[in-house]
Amino acid sequence: MKQPLTSQQRFARNLTQQHEEILSKLKVKGTGSDDLAGWFLGPKAENTQLLQELIRQALDNHCNDRKNLYPNDPVYVTEEMKQTPEYQQTVKILKDKLDVLLEQLKGSVPFWSYRWQSHMNWDTTLPSMAGYFGTMLYNPNNVAAEASPVTTVLEMIVGDELCKMLGYNISEESQTQGPKAWGHITCDGSIANNEAMWAARNLKYYSISLAAAIKNEPLLQKAGALKISLANGTVTTISQASSWDLLNLSVDEVLSLPDRLNSEFHINLDLLNDIMENYSIQNIGFDGVNKYLDSDIKSPVLMAASTCHYSWPKSAAVLGIGANSLIKVYVDENARLHIGRLKEELQNALDNRMPVLMVVAVIGTTEESAVDPLKDIIQVREEFRKQGLNFVIHSDAAWGGYFTAILRQPERQVSNRFVLYTPTLTMNAYVTEQYAHIHQSDSITIDPHKAGYIPYPAGGLCYKNGAMRNLVAFAAPVVYHGGVDPTVGIYGLEGSKPGAAAAAAYMSHQVIPLDQSGYGQILGKCLFNSKRLYSAFITMAEPDDPFTIVPFQRLPAEKNGEGPDKIKQQYEFIKEEIVPKTNEEIMADPQAVALLPELGSDQIIITYTFNFKENGVLNKSVDKLNELNLNIFQALSLSPGEHDHPSKTPMYLTQSQFDNESYGKSFVDDYKKRLGLSIDNDEPVNILISTTMNPWLTDTSEGNFIPELVKVLRQTVLEQVEKLVGALEEA
Ligand SMILES: Cc1ncc(COP(=O)(O)O)c(C=O)c1O
Repeated sequence: MKQPLTSQQRFARNLTQQHEEILSKLKVKGTGSDDLAGWFLGPKAENTQLLQELIRQALDNHCNDRKNLYPNDPVYVTEEMKQTPEYQQTVKILKDKLDVLLEQLKGSVPFWSYRWQSHMNWDTTLPSMAGYFGTMLYNPNNVAAEASPVTTVLEMIVGDELCKMLGYNISEESQTQGPKAWGHITCDGSIANNEAMWAARNLKYYSISLAAAIKNEPLLQKAGALKISLANGTVTTISQASSWDLLNLSVDEVLSLPDRLNSEFHINLDLLNDIMENYSIQNIGFDGVNKYLDSDIKSPVLMAASTCHYSWPKSAAVLGIGANSLIKVYVDENARLHIGRLKEELQNALDNRMPVLMVVAVIGTTEESAVDPLKDIIQVREEFRKQGLNFVIHSDAAWGGYFTAILRQPERQVSNRFVLYTPTLTMNAYVTEQYAHIHQSDSITIDPHKAGYIPYPAGGLCYKNGAMRNLVAFAAPVVYHGGVDPTVGIYGLEGSKPGAAAAAAYMSHQVIPLDQSGYGQILGKCLFNSKRLYSAFITMAEPDDPFTIVPFQRLPAEKNGEGPDKIKQQYEFIKEEIVPKTNEEIMADPQAVALLPELGSDQIIITYTFNFKENGVLNKSVDKLNELNLNIFQALSLSPGEHDHPSKTPMYLTQSQFDNESYGKSFVDDYKKRLGLSIDNDEPVNILISTTMNPWLTDTSEGNFIPELVKVLRQTVLEQVEKLVGALEEA
């Protein structure tokens, strides 16, 4: 007999119908364009007229909409009012204040400039600007569907698009590809990471809570016979499983439990949710849940490469897990998670019954754009599963997620016309292999406001099994009480959030496809440009210069363990055959084409440090080297002080440090040795960082801009070396 729909199911059905209706209007198949010149405003605002037209289009639409909606409602601001001195004074103040603001805004950092080779951002796309502006006028709030009927659907579309690009299954019907994925927009990558950890924590303890509820609650007791598959494949019942068994179930196994209680034991889901309110870690915290654990179970841990973003320890602190419970696994000499060390930590967790909440793979680190060995991490999980240890794998692709587009074939006919010439590059074989496994992560952070070129705030989180979102829903996921609509807004940490961010991402994806023809084209060109920048920077010091530059990312010959002659040969090749050549000449040289993908970092961030010579002798002091690099950074950034305005700042880069605590002594000492420094100390080493998100850097209307950057950097380094050496001599 057909069961009547519950209110939850009715709501879900209505939402899906609404989604489908708006979707059919918003999502025109085969959309997307090819020409990069029309995607950004341009470093000299070359597309001013186009942007004006887009803004005008959005403004006219909005104003006409106000005029036409409720046509019989009265106006408030009459022509007479506009003639009053008070009104005119108000208008004047408004314009004056805006002038003041706009004048001050000229002191902002010019992200769009060729000279911006610093943090991970660049210009925002024209479609995202237009989408944001047009939507901002309506100011929808994606916290609830009733406050954002259109932009909530846009957020769902964007969530699906991101999941699809990452290789997750977004089809409801597809049984073979596993459960349907789900993604949404967060305010940033930090909050996406926090939510992923929150979901992983709740998932880890869900079955512990459920087993306790089944034991204690008469209404659930019949479910004690529920069969569960343990990490090693053994089948047992939930009442017989040990705490360790329950803490190591797979994600899909845990998420299937409520539905199975319903289908196999006829337990009503609302009733189950009500009962679980008194058992879930969400409600009773660690103290409450620990009461249900066998005595051999220790506190939980998380693991991530030591290069992970600081949002990870922050999230562990916020979630009551404790920042010290995040085990930072030291990285290898390429700044990628060291798989042997990860295994040691996992073995320790297994031996000591420490539940592992999650292992984070960073897909593009903040400071080196290094890609962790995701393929091996997945393999290692398989090995540990057999021994009964299981955990969530999260890919922090906050920065690297959009690079997936480089690997996706366009679904539509694409034009091959290039007005100017920057080749697109694909990622090297190692990186490509890790991306080929990204869809096996249980959750992925991917930020439109980073490599998606979308205005802030737009982070993103995708779950492979969409049901995972229910673990962090504070209102029951699909319960509709007729007042506040449950919607994408109920999942996660945030309350009010801009529908404009969803519209910006939606518009950008519509115009710039998430494949090789769109974002893949932009980021592929950035890859090419980053390799050229790396080549130019590492060869900028001549033997008789009073400075040296050491890139953290070693030459391929060095990485492959070749001897000094081969390394020198490769260096000379880069200096002669790549640096001075045009893009066309490089692409006509098979040796250069083969070398290019191996140069620099895994993505488009390069990391380097300058040292100086005093009377021809290379400095050995870490402190002095740090001072030099800090001074270079201050001269090439909007640091408070002398260089406080872009008009006085000829180029931008950023800085950080390699320290023993985060990277391990052997990693830091190795870099010190490469710089010629003494290693009889535990001082951190300053590093300079350049992110190349500019797809046009090497083919401006006047050719390659990199020589200008090298000129500026050289001049700055020479000035700073002279100052430092002068000061040292005086002292
Ligand atoms: C790898 C990685 N994860 C997370 C974040 C945090 O992102 P957000 O600054 O948007 O919070 C960053 C920021 O740089 C990052 O590089």
